[in-house]
Order: sequence, then C-alpha cells, then structure tokens
Amino acid sequence: MKTIKIAVFGTGFMGRVHTEAARRLGFIEVVGAAGSSLERARAFAERMGIPRAEADYRKFLADPEIDAVHILTPNQLHFPMAKDALLAGKNVVCEKPLGTSVAEGEELVALARKTGLANCTFHNVRMYPQVQNMKAMVEAGEIGEVRVIQGTYSQDWLLYDTDWNWRIEVGPSRTFADIGSHWCDLAEHVTGLRLRSVCADLNTFYKTRKKPKGPVETFAGKTLRPDEYTEVPIETEDFGSMIFRMNNDARGAMTVSQISAGRKNRLVLEIYGTKKGIAWDCERQDELWIGERNEANRIVIKDPALLEPKARPFADLPGGHSEGYDDTFKQIFRRFYARVADRAAAVEYPTFEDGLRQLKVLDRVLESARTQKWVEVSS
Ligand SMILES: NC(=O)c1ccc[n+]([C@@H]2O[C@H](COP(=O)([O-])OP(=O)(O)OC[C@H]3O[C@@H](n4cnc5c(N)ncnc54)[C@H](O)[C@@H]3O)[C@@H](O)[C@H]2O)c1
Repeated sequence: MKTIKIAVFGTGFMGRVHTEAARRLGFIEVVGAAGSSLERARAFAERMGIPRAEADYRKFLADPEIDAVHILTPNQLHFPMAKDALLAGKNVVCEKPLGTSVAEGEELVALARKTGLANCTFHNVRMYPQVQNMKAMVEAGEIGEVRVIQGTYSQDWLLYDTDWNWRIEVGPSRTFADIGSHWCDLAEHVTGLRLRSVCADLNTFYKTRKKPKGPVETFAGKTLRPDEYTEVPIETEDFGSMIFRMNNDARGAMTVSQISAGRKNRLVLEIYGTKKGIAWDCERQDELWIGERNEANRIVIKDPALLEPKARPFADLPGGHSEGYDDTFKQIFRRFYARVADRAAAVEYPTFEDGLRQLKVLDRVLESARTQKWVEVSS
C-alpha cells in the first residue's frame, strides 16, 4: 500500500496515543507535529521520532504531501482546526467532541460533505471486540426487543479541588461532553436506537478549584505541589445523571462522573431485552456478561472463535490475549485509512455526522439540566 503522510495537532495524551497507533498500520508516516508552542512541539517530535515540528498547524495544511491530519487538542480548537483542514483539502480525524456547539458540528458536516474528504469523530469505544459483539447480538435478535438501557461512565481523576485540566475551563459542558458523549454514542451505536427524550441533572461540586500555574498534561495533575496553584471559579460539571427514552420506547438511566473515587475509566453499558441481558465494563474489556432468566448467567471471554461473526474483524488476537484501548485506535485507523486510500471503501468508523449527533444530544442534555424538564432530542 502507498505510504500515507499525516500530521498530528496536539502533543499531549492523545498526541502520543494516536501517533503510536497510526504507525502500527505500517503504511502511515507521521511527518509532523503541531503544539501550543514551538518548544513543546519540538520536544514531542524529538521524543516520538517525528521529523518536523511547528507551533502553527496551518503550516502543515499548506504542505501538499500531507494527506490527513489528526486533531488532538482541547475541544474549543476542534472546530477551527477541522474547518481549516477540510478547506485545505486534508482528510480529518478529530477527537471527540467534534466541537463545542451544534452550529459548529453542522458547519463541519456540511463542509465535509461538500469536499468529499474522509472524516472521523473519534468515538473509539465502539471498536472494542466485545462492544461489536454486543451490537451483533442485538442485531441478530438474540436479546429480543431492547427494553432497558443502564450504565455509567465514571472516573476519579478530578476528585480533589487540586486536580486540574484544561477541560475544567472549556464549556459549555465538561463531564458530559468529555465522557458522556462516549457513553451516549455507544448506547446508540450498540442498540441501533436513538435517544428520543432526556431528563438530566448536572452538578458542579467544586465552585472553585486550584489551578496550577503551569500547563498540565491530562491525568498528570495528581503529582503537583500546593504552592503551584491559583484559586479560580468553576462552571463545568463534575457529575451528571440522566433518565431517558429511546425511539422504540425503551427506557434507561445513566450517570457520568469524574469524582468517583477508585473508578479509573468505568464505562458500563447494560442492555436488557425481552429475552436476555448483556453488559460490558470498559475496565474488564475482554469480558461480556450475558444474563439469563431461566439458566445460569455467563461471562464470555474475548476469543475470535466465540464472537459473533460480524464482531470477529474487530479482534486481531487469539483468545486470552487481551485487546484494549490502544487497539481501538488501530481498528479505527485501519478502516479510516482504507477509505482515504480508496473512496469506494465502506465507512466503518464514526464520522463527523456521528460527532454532530452527540453535540445535538449534549445540547438537549444541557437544556434539560437548565430547565429541570424533559426535553425532546431531534433525530
Ligand atoms: N477518544 C479518547 O479516548 C480520548 C481520550 C482522551 C482525550 N480525548 C480527546 O482528545 C483531545 C485532547 O485531549 P488530551 O487528553 O490529549 O489533552 P492534553 O492536554 O493531554 O493534550 C492537548 C494538547 O494540545 C496542545 N495544544 C493546545 N493548544 C494548541 C494549539 N493551538 N496547537 C497545537 N496544539 C495545541 C497542548 O499543548 C497539549 O499538548 C480532547 O478533545 C479530548 O476530548 C479523547
């Protein structure tokens, strides 16, 4: 396959993970990294063995050799960077959420359609083999008609008022935009249903937090000392909960939290149908729980031989060999770059339209929390 050249925008947690995962395909060359300063971009490029570093991402957009860019920066930069990239004729992988408003998402979807470029919103959780297994089971009618959806996305890395990250200052939502968007995307993707109406409640427990005087990479704040902070007011939510109705009349409830001690990345999705229940926990990603009414429940360990046929292409390793977070990136890139290389290839990854969908859901969640009422979600 022809070598595809890409640049990454953002040199933090996702900068590292995207760079490593894209290289695993073998035909992707990461030729550039853009950071918030030349110094940071250079330090990252040197560490990762990337030949070129820039403080201004537009320099990479002007380079005709670059086929695609990955937008891995704080959320408020997704829209301007993605828009500039599409206008420059680049294929775009953009981290979630796609933007900070529905209007931004709509503009990006329209532009992506007009340019015909490949576009992806990075809802990577879809790509775990057991998630695809759940989806295939629902599609095959194995659990019956979906009646109840429950779950959570809980973390603890912002538990203390001394914990800090740029997410805390980027509105209009933090916890729901950051991790709730993954959960809602997953619930809709796996069930094939749509959220029809929502009733949400959000809370900011810390009205102020201690902001570090220097920049902090995601999840790195736990090691800072108290004399390195300034006290600042906070508006984004630490916690959210939502009850909802799906378009087939199924009902559900979920919570999102970044202050649940001990929960590192607990995304749980439980789906109960008229025949069986199925449940998956991202912290135990190889396991799928299957709930039975009249016989013993089962836990099926990821093994290509035991997955539904439709889920097998998402598992590259034999049973007993775990496939985790990094592998979800590889699975998206494999499909995304197949499409970049050949426009006739199927779109088997989450697109900007999926990103827009979750911006619409988020907008309705915020409206419901503001008015303390049930709110309809447009399709
Ligand atoms: N899909 C997932 O599993 C997942 C996980 C974590 C984060 N994310 C998303 O990825 C994005 C980045 O999150 P992160 O955790 O890597 O954050 P991070 O703080 O670790 O990294 C962000 C990087 O962007 C850089 N940056 C800031 N302004 C810039 C500019 N103008 N030009 C270039 N670079 C700039 C910062 O210097 C930093 O290196 C967010 O949108 C987040 O929602 C997704």
